[in-house]
Parts: sequence; C-alpha cells; structure tokens
Amino acid sequence: MFLGSGKAVPERVLTNHDLEKIVDTSDEWIRERTGIERRHIADDKLTTSELCARAGAAALQDAGITADQLDAILVGTVTGDAKFPSTACYIQDKLGASNAAAMDLQAACSGFLYVSTFADSLIRTGKARYVLAIGGELLSRIVDWTDRATCILFGDGAGAAVWGPAGDDGRGIIDTFMKSNGKLTDLLHMPGGGTSISMQDAINARMNYIKMQGPEVFKAAVTSMGEAATTILEKNGLTGDDIDLLIPHQANIRIIKATAKRVKMPMDKVFVNVNEFGNTSAASIPIAIDEARKAGRLKEGDLALLVAFGGGFTWGSMLVRF
Ligand code: ACO
Repeated sequence: MFLGSGKAVPERVLTNHDLEKIVDTSDEWIRERTGIERRHIADDKLTTSELCARAGAAALQDAGITADQLDAILVGTVTGDAKFPSTACYIQDKLGASNAAAMDLQAACSGFLYVSTFADSLIRTGKARYVLAIGGELLSRIVDWTDRATCILFGDGAGAAVWGPAGDDGRGIIDTFMKSNGKLTDLLHMPGGGTSISMQDAINARMNYIKMQGPEVFKAAVTSMGEAATTILEKNGLTGDDIDLLIPHQANIRIIKATAKRVKMPMDKVFVNVNEFGNTSAASIPIAIDEARKAGRLKEGDLALLVAFGGGFTWGSMLVRF
C-alpha cells in the first residue's frame, strides 16, 4: 500500500533562455519539440544520495514512518555517487535506517517502476514490511553541455515513496508490467566508464556523456509506453475511463500526449510537469506522484496508471490504488 511520498530538487533553475546562451537553440524550439520550459540543476557539491535522502526523509515524514522501521531502501539511478558502493547505502546512512537492506537498481527512466515492483514483491512475500523506493538522478553530471540535441532535455531531482502492506480496502499496487530490449542499447547510453571503455579512454573520446539518437528513441518511447499502458489495462479488464490519473514518465509532452491518446484518456486526466523539471529519468514519476498529491490531483482511493520508458531499452507500467 502507498503510505507517503516526497521529492527534492536543487534550488538552481536553468531556463530555456539560459540555454540559449550555452548552445545554438531557442526557447521556442525547446517548448515546441519537448514542452520543457525550465529544469533544476545541481551545484558541484550536491550528490545524488543527498538529494535522494532529502526526498526519502520527506516521504517518511509523510508516511508517519521512522527510518529505523524501514526493511529496505531500493534506489533507481544511473548517476549514483560512486561506481560502488550503492547510492542506497549512502542514503541508508544519511537517513539512519539502521534495519534496512540497501541496493541500487539500474533501469534508467523506468527505474522507479522497477524498484517499486521489487518493493511490492518483498512486501507480498513477507520479506519486508516497509520499503522506501527512490528514483534520483543528477543527469547534469553526464550531460554534454555542448550537444544541443541532449543538453536541453534533462534535469536533476529525486522522488520517493514508502510502500507498506496492502490494506483491506483494495488500496496498493494492483499490478505491474516490466519489459526490456537490449538490442537497442546504442540508441541511448553513456558508453564510457564501465568495463568496455575505460574512463580514461572515454574522456579522451568524449564518451563519458549521454549519447542519444533522439528520433529513434522518440518512436520507441511512443510505441513502448503505449504497449505498457494498454497491456496492463487489458490484463486487468480496465480501460482509460476507469483511471483517475495517468502519470507518465516526463520526457517530452509529445510522448505524453501520444501515450494518453493510446489509452483514450483526455489530457485533464494526465499529470504533466515536464515543463518545470525536464526529464529527470528515474525521478520523474515519483516527483510527479508527490506533486499530483500535493496539488489535490491524486487523492486517497484514486486509481492511477504509471507508465515509463528509458535507456536499455526498459519500459513498464503500474496500476496503483492510492
Ligand atoms: N535547438 C534547435 N535545434 C535543434 C536542437 C535544439 N536544442 N536539437 C536538435 N535541433 C535540430 C537538429 O539539428 C535538426 O536540424 P536539421 O533538420 O537541420 O538537421 C532539427 O532540429 C530536427 O532534429 P530532430 O532530432 O529530428 O528533432 P525531433 O523533432 O526528433 O526532436 C527530440 C528532437 C526533442 C530530442 C526528440 O527526438 C525527442 O524528444 N526524442 C526522445 C528523447 C528522449 O526523451 N530521451 C530521453 C530518454 S528516453 C525517455 O526518457 C523517454
């Protein structure tokens, strides 16, 4: 059952007009192609774990759970503090979650749906009672600020949710759907810094940044998010009419509109904040959940459909009665 949410974003805001001074672009182009107006960007000292810990602490407070009651902290991120240990371990320490297991899971923009699926499994099998699921990214650290095709898209942020045992009232995670296609890894990746291209070689060849084939990623995102949304609805005997709020991954307003169209949902039942935050990858859905609740758009008892797509490719969906 969903117990609480929180979010944290860096204070500094980078507008499209600010970007006009960095690369050859325009506010008009960015708005028309993506729907993004501004994004939050971290200063050099902020770490992913610090941002995630802030979001996690807010979620714990919202849930009325103390950190030592957590059995697990699961973090979706591709921009962890270090290669190892996991960012989840840094967060465990910052929160003082003395009884929690901690691990990261890498599924790019689908990260929060993936970690929440595993949180749900731990809870359903009795391995855990309370799990903190976090999606957090400092994408600004791996963005090539000379590449106008990518640097305009991304932002930094973290979002968190506390999951607990299902109640008797039908509230909780009803179903999840996850899928991947590793044949298309090269369309969206940061190739350097792992075991295939050393960090030194990557720096020399500028491979230590996000590389993306935008139009191909766009097409795959539309197809896959549509598949994820329709599959989970059909499996559960539902249609878009049954859903109170669609919360799609916030990458691009055109992808969001295409996903809504696929499940025949009007845009007034779709949560959108890509204009404010840009694409924050794994953080985008939990940030959206927190904002939707605080804006009164997502209330207790509402049925929400969450849909994501990201590098890998990975994609998925979740049906949640909040
Ligand atoms: N400002 C101005 N012009 C630009 C910019 C920019 N920032 N970026 C690219 N252009 C130019 C290109 O050079 C090209 O010029 P040309 O016609 O002279 O060659 C022209 O604009 C069109 O470029 P396209 O890449 O074809 O533009 P498109 O309409 O596909 O939009 C975009 C690009 C916004 C990146 C789109 O493909 C997209 O959103 N793709 C999905 C990417 C995404 O969301 N990735 C995130 C991870 S996956 C996920 O989260 C879903």
